[in-house]
Amino acid sequence: MIIGVPREIKTGEKRVSMTPSLCRRATALGAKVLLEKNAGLTAGFTDAEYKAAGASLAATAEKVWRSADLILKVKEPLEAEYGHMREGQAIFTYLHLAAGPALARQLCRRNILGIAYETVEGNDGSFPLLKPMSQIAGRLAIQLGAYFLQSQYGGSGVLLGGIPGTMPGHVVVVGAGNSGAHAVQMAAGMGARVTVLDLDTRKLELLDTEYRGRIVTLVSNPANIEHAVSDCDLLIGAVLIPAARAPIVVSAEMVRRMRPGSVIVDIAIDQGGCIETIRATSHEKPVYQLHGVNHYAVPNMPALVGRTSTMGLTQATEPYVCMIVQKGLERALAEHKGLAKGVNTRGGRIVYEEVAKAVGFDRA
Ligand SMILES: NC(=O)c1ccc[n+]([C@@H]2O[C@H](COP(=O)([O-])OP(=O)(O)OC[C@H]3O[C@@H](n4cnc5c(N)ncnc54)[C@H](O)[C@@H]3O)[C@@H](O)[C@H]2O)c1
Repeated sequence: MIIGVPREIKTGEKRVSMTPSLCRRATALGAKVLLEKNAGLTAGFTDAEYKAAGASLAATAEKVWRSADLILKVKEPLEAEYGHMREGQAIFTYLHLAAGPALARQLCRRNILGIAYETVEGNDGSFPLLKPMSQIAGRLAIQLGAYFLQSQYGGSGVLLGGIPGTMPGHVVVVGAGNSGAHAVQMAAGMGARVTVLDLDTRKLELLDTEYRGRIVTLVSNPANIEHAVSDCDLLIGAVLIPAARAPIVVSAEMVRRMRPGSVIVDIAIDQGGCIETIRATSHEKPVYQLHGVNHYAVPNMPALVGRTSTMGLTQATEPYVCMIVQKGLERALAEHKGLAKGVNTRGGRIVYEEVAKAVGFDRA
């Protein structure tokens, strides 16, 4: 099996889908790894390290895509990459098709076996390949939010932790899953006042026990969200309905009533966003102001910390990559139900029901 590792080309992306250490394991198990030159450089890995780990280098992305049976990526293929896809090829990467109907159509048209990291399931119904990036995005959301609260970025000038004798900033986190819980941890660590909302009361119970009254937990419903948002400095959107478009949990009217200079970080933007006024931004221009509120919605936040993100991502993908190499892709999919849950497109069709519902079609 030839595994192709192209350089990521999404704006500001610094991650790579394979470290030299994963490359060493995959080649030892019998795979051939074809890596685009300098693909690992932005994450701190040189071509020489990959060569020492058994990889061959290709001068262009086109050569990688042309030769590989399995393309291993980080972000979804972009328009410039559509033409490289080979009929019948397999791609293992984040796809987020609910927010990407154009890509879904391309994968169907080109008969691509599209396996999405974000829908691969663990035995307990968790999403092990989404988890590490969500943890990173949750942690980053607080440091970015704190940054854009600064006056020179149009923020209200609130310091999240305050100082003795002043009110700390109020951080409201909607969604208490992987990203939300890590946002809560960072915000509480900075000394902010924290409110977290979720539909799942078990998650709220866990956080309540962990923080022993240091944070406020609320069941997510329109009244509680409206109340919390009306008094917040930093709002974090961190909800997920697996594979589906994110539900809108904060209306434009609620945003309009936020304090001037407040900040929204909508982590869920990769699934379409959960705040009515949000639209995707990029690392080049991460923030826009609407109704006096700074909106941040970069779909690939972990790219900001390419080294840590690459380590976090590949430690999660490693067992799956090794299984695919050892068993072959078809046998691995047949024998591992959790990996099979990752299949979003196959045989010219969208085969993941929630994704088909979200984009409104199941074949091109
Ligand atoms: N922007 C980025 O760079 C980036 C990076 C990583 C992950 N993400 C995205 O962040 C989002 C969250 O991922 P996660 O791993 O934290 O998901 P998760 O499944 O761990 O948590 C999501 C939580 O949302 C809750 N939820 C669902 N509907 C809700 C509602 N109406 N109100 C309140 N809570 C609700 C669920 O009960 C769950 O606890 C996903 O869209 C994921 O793809 C984005």
